[in-house]
Amino acid sequence: NMKGAIFDLDGVIVDTAKYHFLAWKSLANQLGFEFTETDNERLKGVSRVESLRILLEIGGIEADERTFNEMAESKNKEYVASIAQLQPEEILPGAKTYLQQLRSQGIKIALGSASKNAEFILSKLEIADLFDAVIDGNKVAKAKPDPEVFISASSALGLDPKDCVVFEDAEAGVQAGKASGSKVVGIGSPEILSEADLVVPGLAALVK
Ligand code: BG6
Ligand code: MG
Repeated sequence: NMKGAIFDLDGVIVDTAKYHFLAWKSLANQLGFEFTETDNERLKGVSRVESLRILLEIGGIEADERTFNEMAESKNKEYVASIAQLQPEEILPGAKTYLQQLRSQGIKIALGSASKNAEFILSKLEIADLFDAVIDGNKVAKAKPDPEVFISASSALGLDPKDCVVFEDAEAGVQAGKASGSKVVGIGSPEILSEADLVVPGLAALVK
């Protein structure tokens, strides 16, 4: 019986993956290599630092710590410029209605995201007030697939992970949710999210 619902942000509530992709692609192009949508799948749900590590591996590029940090910062600058234009209309279909429906049933709601830009995105989408707790990339040490983010989110709600359901679109996120002890609803394709307890194409499918 679900007492708490923990939502990933990117790819579950809003499609920011396309903006992450464009910013990583432009960094790759500046560095002289191509970066495709297929490559980008590997970055979904993964922290900024880990994403850059994977990107440089794809490009066969080595960078010292200072250059690495400058690259991460430059990608983030471009990404933040695009999400600064986000509109409330860009919330994915059914997401807001589903959150409101859960709240009206007395279910507690948390955000469990790897992003350090999560608060900014929630404010742009004007949905910050629908969350009882926000656990994001600024608050966790270990990135998904480590369960830390979801364990923190359930405890911020005052709940046991086994009484919470995690909603995730990334493979690393589904693994993190399962490892935390929660049930996991995968958002996307059953082939990619085979470890989830249930897979739906989007939150709209859950609205009653
Ligand atoms: C996750 C995204 O939600 O956040 C990843 O799926 C992204 O693609 C990660 O790298 C970190 O985001 P940010 O905003 O802190 O760079
Ligand atoms: Mg995601």
